[in-house]
Amino acid sequence: MKQIKAIVRPEKLPDVREALEKTGCYRGVMITDIMGQGAQKGITQAWRGEKYQVDLLPKVMIDLVVKDEDVETITNIIIKSARTGDIGDGKIFIYDVVEAVRIRTGEKGNDAL
Ligand SMILES: Nc1ncnc2c1ncn2[C@@H]1O[C@H](COP(=O)(O)OP(=O)(O)OP(=O)(O)O)[C@@H](O)[C@H]1O
Ligand SMILES: [Mg+2]
Repeated sequence: MKQIKAIVRPEKLPDVREALEKTGCYRGVMITDIMGQGAQKGITQAWRGEKYQVDLLPKVMIDLVVKDEDVETITNIIIKSARTGDIGDGKIFIYDVVEAVRIRTGEKGNDAL
């Protein structure tokens, strides 16, 4: 099992969720509002002629735990539905998951997803 952690633009969340829910391998999701910084270290904005740096920007973190064989499908869906082509589109990180347990039934591993 793998955990897919995608950081995307908040305005792209509805598109990403809709695309994920259409796939057969979607089982569940965790959504967290975060503040973040990428390679450009924020953006410079102007207000009344004064320039100032906004170093943390709002992003949404999407976490899914999926079967190993579904990682590529899910990752490609996220890329397709979250991309605008501009800087700040986000990033995807993939982690190994040691175990999953469905509390209600005691099922483990892929059966618990
Ligand atoms: N190396 C990283 N470690 C942890 N979080 C990161 C990292 N890179 C990006 N993020 C998270 O992803 C968000 C979006 O990053 P962003 O898309 O701006 O990445 P980038 O590397 O600057 O790419 P781009 O040049 O396309 O903007 C950041 O606000 C931050 O929350
Ligand atoms: Mg960036």
